[in-house]
Amino acid sequence: MSARAATATAALAGFVGVLVLPTAAEAAQQHDTPVVVAHRGASGYAPENTLQAIDKADKLGFDWVENDVQRTKDGQLVVIHDTNLARTTNVEQIFPDRAPYNVGDFTAAEIAKLDAGSWKGAEFAGARVPTLTQYLDRVDHNHQKLLMEIKAPELYPGIEKDVLRVLGEEGWLNRDHVRNRLVIQSFSADSVRTVHERRPDITTGFLGTPDVSDLPRYAQFADQINPSNGTISDWYVAAVHAFKGPHGKRLQLFTWTVNDAATARRAAGLGVDGIITNVPDVVREAVGDRE
Ligand code: G3P
Ligand code: CA
Repeated sequence: MSARAATATAALAGFVGVLVLPTAAEAAQQHDTPVVVAHRGASGYAPENTLQAIDKADKLGFDWVENDVQRTKDGQLVVIHDTNLARTTNVEQIFPDRAPYNVGDFTAAEIAKLDAGSWKGAEFAGARVPTLTQYLDRVDHNHQKLLMEIKAPELYPGIEKDVLRVLGEEGWLNRDHVRNRLVIQSFSADSVRTVHERRPDITTGFLGTPDVSDLPRYAQFADQINPSNGTISDWYVAAVHAFKGPHGKRLQLFTWTVNDAATARRAAGLGVDGIITNVPDVVREAVGDRE
């Protein structure tokens, strides 16, 4: 065990009493095949966060898709990653005098006019930025499952309430969806905590790599700790697994964004519970898919 790992172990022991972390070899024998999540849909093959990207994930045989949710000027929820429309739409062409093109400066009707597919390839021309409602309907239609990210919630005060309202309207807060088909995550701990407080039954995830000494605090409101793959090690995964989340189950760890076989094998070898990837077929070929 490295000096850093030993320090982490000592820090953990301070919180939970005597704690013995497994060695890497022990861990390798213990863990299950990870769940594979199509990041922004199957975004390696179709324009990210569009209905086409969900459908591509479905065609490839993947249940879990990840997305990013933001709010328009008139309070509608839309699915898009960047807080600026320019990279993934033709907004500069359609609204040339509306720079700097922030999502929150446009109405839902204006965003609905944008082409969100052509940047990825001519074959995707006409793809739209979906509303959250349209997106949920398609995920349901495909019998898929959703890892939903609340993106940049600091720009959209109260967005958690809006997200929960739309989820409720679309039937996503019933027992089946909440138990089996929905996780809500964010880089904002405040946002994750707010979701947990409003709907304690929902599975939640914190995006990031908190210090091990802070994990007890995160475990009060997050069921998953979801770090960038470049930040994790066997001891970190084991440290996360040493805690129980708000539902009394072992904290899970889904890592991102893993887009090649070697990195997928490393992540799986560390014992992660999920791998979030633009190319889910590549990851499944390398390490399998629990779903
Ligand atoms: O789900 C993990 C990942 O989506 C977080 O990063 O920037 O792609 O939203 P980002
Ligand atoms: Ca995301």
